[in-house]
Amino acid sequence: MTRLFDPIQIGAIAAANRIAMAPLTRNRAAAHQVPTELMATYYQQRASAGLIIAEATQISPEGQGYLDTPGIYSPEQVAGWKKVTDGVHAAGGKIVLQLWHVGRISHVSLLPGGMSPVSSTARVAKAQTFTKDGFVDVSPPRALRTDEMPRLVADYRHAAKCAIQAGFDGVEVHGANGYLIDQFLRDSTNDRTDAYGGSVANRVRLLMEVMQAVTSEVGADRTGLRLSPVTPFSDIGQDSDAQGLFNHVVAQLAPLKLAYLHLIEGNTGGARDYLPFDYEALRQRYKQDHPQGVWIVNNGYDRQMAIDGVTKGQADVVAFGRPFISNPDLVHRLRDNLPLAALDPNTLYGGDAKGYTDYPSLAETAG
Ligand code: PHB
Repeated sequence: MTRLFDPIQIGAIAAANRIAMAPLTRNRAAAHQVPTELMATYYQQRASAGLIIAEATQISPEGQGYLDTPGIYSPEQVAGWKKVTDGVHAAGGKIVLQLWHVGRISHVSLLPGGMSPVSSTARVAKAQTFTKDGFVDVSPPRALRTDEMPRLVADYRHAAKCAIQAGFDGVEVHGANGYLIDQFLRDSTNDRTDAYGGSVANRVRLLMEVMQAVTSEVGADRTGLRLSPVTPFSDIGQDSDAQGLFNHVVAQLAPLKLAYLHLIEGNTGGARDYLPFDYEALRQRYKQDHPQGVWIVNNGYDRQMAIDGVTKGQADVVAFGRPFISNPDLVHRLRDNLPLAALDPNTLYGGDAKGYTDYPSLAETAG
């Protein structure tokens, strides 16, 4: 018998089942990066997920890299998110917010006063982002100075505090997909000579400082972290020893007793076997010191893979991304092995209710 549909305790969060909604960028925030009523409807429709991980949300104006993504640093944004969390909680769901800083994956037109993006490095990514003028190459970044790091960590802390004020059940730090924390972790994008570059211990320093700040602010039992050891997303190069780096990362994290770790296996939104990597070794290393730590897996899972992963004990929770876009009642459909609706690729980023809140549940289709 599968346990995929059974409740699970994720730190302080009592989840009704082991299916999470993965964070999904939809670019529908209003002016000043404020969440809207439409976003509240969208998340409420998906509240039967055991845990919703709300979309990547910038911790500061400097952390933004795409048009119309939401923020979590101003009172106006907190008030907007409160409508989202109230809606999800009224429907019996749980929701955490993903805390995001894009680092070098940004464009001057998206940043305050036309400033340059900031990163571990001054080397530019061969990547594009979406601005009010459409797709453009990302702007050359400026390497953060050592004396700016405390301010950066304080921005994460402030955002975590704002998220709890907005009624979230917790936060997920975004350490994946070639964004700022990943830019510091990997030796392909970290060419620093200060205490935040060079050795593995130095490259992991920013991550650990952020995790310590966030957990001391909101509690480790309300804090998760997302990692993607081998993704090439956002033109991030491979670390010269990805297995060694991430083995070290999880060993360092285990004593913090986080609510969960969330692993993107393979290439984000692409091949799961993109490069060889032993995720099971990582999981076992982590559980050795933190057996209660929930292990969430993600990337291209279908129903049978999710059932098998949880049954074999290789995952505690499975996060689904794209299937949740077109199937608000995904948990019901997976539980009863019912057909899934296809997704419209043209309405993913930006726009209105079309392709966002107008995907019906099966009950609505039947009605
Ligand atoms: C995106 O906006 O395309 C995006 C954001 C966060 C991710 C991945 C993709 O982790």
